[in-house]
Amino acid sequence: MSRMIAANAGGIAAAVDLLREGQCVALPSETVYGLAADARDPTAIARIYEAKGRPGHNPLIVHVASLEKAAALIELDARAQALAGRFWPGPLTIVARMKPDNGIAPSVTAGLATLAVRVPRHPVFRAVLDACGFPLAAPSANASGTLSATSPQIVLSGLSGKIPLVVADGITEKGVESTIIDLSGETPALLRHGGVPRELIEAAIGTVEDHTKPTVAPKSPGQLLRHYAPRARLRLNAVDVTADEALLAFGSLKFMGVQGGGWAKDLPATRLKNLSESGDLDEAAHHLFAHLYALDQSGAAAIAVMPIPDTGIGVAINDRLRRACQAQETA
Ligand code: TXA
Ligand code: MG
Repeated sequence: MSRMIAANAGGIAAAVDLLREGQCVALPSETVYGLAADARDPTAIARIYEAKGRPGHNPLIVHVASLEKAAALIELDARAQALAGRFWPGPLTIVARMKPDNGIAPSVTAGLATLAVRVPRHPVFRAVLDACGFPLAAPSANASGTLSATSPQIVLSGLSGKIPLVVADGITEKGVESTIIDLSGETPALLRHGGVPRELIEAAIGTVEDHTKPTVAPKSPGQLLRHYAPRARLRLNAVDVTADEALLAFGSLKFMGVQGGGWAKDLPATRLKNLSESGDLDEAAHHLFAHLYALDQSGAAAIAVMPIPDTGIGVAINDRLRRACQAQETA
């Protein structure tokens, strides 16, 4: 049984108790829900991999309460300090060389010499970190290879019965995972598009190399193709919709037609979700996974997706959509 509990003082206390016992718990963050456990405890970490069905070669992000705590775990050079100062707490993950004997369980990094660290902004996640005092490893709280969970319902759809507790706080603010930047080498490498747009990172530390393109032989395990996939087939950049498709809309539906006759705006509500009627990209990211999940549940064989501008956080949205398509093509 998995218990769901509101994100109030009682919920936070229940999460802290379980984490101290070496259990894993789903917590809200500003990006997506995370499946947290004590990053120093190999048994607790094994529970994360087990619950998610995650391959052991895909390392986890460690969450800490402050820059000082991060500095005890990894080497923070001038570039890292600049990024941390600008974006922490918030949706940015920094990969850097580990400090020796930092206490992190080797299974967290899958044996790598580098560690991914983030200081989250969500008040509930922060309260849990403060109360625990130890670092929390937390991947997204979804079964490996499926949509990231932006709501407690999506967490339970994949992990029910596999984890003891979900601390529920509605739909997460950003809706896409953190941006990951690798500072372990000479040139900063962008490993994943996410909540902090690339432009803002480059404004802080100069040009970064783009290592985000999906590949079959990834540098970072997170670049694996099979990621973020719904069940229904996705059709991107759709300018109309067929009668048996669901529609993930963006912006105005005024001129969106159904092939063979009719208007998309008249589709049944279960088959039509709009990421943002006003065309706001932040709002679209916030709704992305929850809307995809809902349309997947509608039973439609395919989901047509309207074009989304490839700027700002739209880059992360399009990245997730393309990965979902490619995962399906290669599955
Ligand atoms: O927004 C987020 O980052 C969420 C919340 C819960 O913080 N977490 C998250 O974790 O998305 P996860 O495990 O789903 O994605 C972490 C990614 C993986 O793609 C993993 O391969 C990569 O980070 N990663 C972790 N450690 C790494 C390392 N040392 N070097 C390169 N990539 C690493
Ligand atoms: Mg994930």
